[in-house]
Amino acid sequence: MFEVKNLLNKKNGIIFGALNDKSIAWQVAEKANEQGANFILSNTDVAIRMGTINELADKTGSKVVGADATSTGDLKKLFEDALQEFDGKIDFVLHSIGMSPNVRKGIPYTDINYPNFSKTLDISALSFHKILQTAYHMDAINEWGSVVALTYVAAQRTLAGYNDMGDAKALLESIARSFGYVYGRDKKVRVNTVSQSPTPTTAGSGVSGIDSLLDFSERMSPLGNATASEAADYIILLFSDLTRKVTMQNLYHDGGFSSMGMSQRAIEQYNKSFEECD
Ligand SMILES: NC(=O)c1ccc[n+]([C@@H]2O[C@H](COP(=O)([O-])OP(=O)(O)OC[C@H]3O[C@@H](n4cnc5c(N)ncnc54)[C@H](O)[C@@H]3O)[C@@H](O)[C@H]2O)c1
Repeated sequence: MFEVKNLLNKKNGIIFGALNDKSIAWQVAEKANEQGANFILSNTDVAIRMGTINELADKTGSKVVGADATSTGDLKKLFEDALQEFDGKIDFVLHSIGMSPNVRKGIPYTDINYPNFSKTLDISALSFHKILQTAYHMDAINEWGSVVALTYVAAQRTLAGYNDMGDAKALLESIARSFGYVYGRDKKVRVNTVSQSPTPTTAGSGVSGIDSLLDFSERMSPLGNATASEAADYIILLFSDLTRKVTMQNLYHDGGFSSMGMSQRAIEQYNKSFEECD
């Protein structure tokens, strides 16, 4: 494969959401490190204790700073830490954060628990606004900096089992557009979301029927599902100077799934089962 070097040379950032080596954020951190970036890794204190983020920190020579992304106080401290650590502003931020207590507890959408729903929205969507607002007011990101959040096509289409996470992702993508406008206009900072294929991670495995979803999506995508490592390649490109005029976009990274209606294979299978019924 074509080898790219030093795409993020002299760039500093914050990466939220690496829990273990399956996490999309983990792959991004490894590739950002290979491309010459320096960064702080952040996650909740519980995730730091339960996961293996410290291994990643050792591997990439990064500092780990605990922060609950729903707490503006934690975020302020984290950004202050980053400005001090790098002796200047940062260049990129990855929001790779998602959690729904309703999904986790298997509560169906028709019986949703509203305090849980608020938590889903706060953790999976409002946290993105809180990160952007904190960075904006602290003027913590350099001109032409880049902020990326991970999303899923359930924001546009209903996928059984995704529950209130679909609503959270719709809000997340809207925040990228709304904040992207202001941040671009005032400080030339890019804000985008990357809509990734279903991926076997800890969060992904919480979605009911994930194995069938992975299989269905693999068959429906002309290029097949995109892996976490491939998502990381794309995100590195979005952090780099090669995408300086890309902002306020929801960018699909899903092997073509989001543009498909019916695949040839599905039509053949449908015809076959129809004939069997005759
Ligand atoms: N796995 C998939 O199928 C898939 C597909 C498309 C998009 N995504 C999105 O990718 C992102 C990363 O998920 P992943 O699949 O790598 O799973 P993951 O479980 O590895 O990552 C989710 C992360 O969110 C963190 N988190 C939860 N609550 C938090 C809080 N209050 N503050 C800070 N961090 C918190 C967790 O500790 C964890 O590190 C999520 O936004 C997810 O919705 C995942």
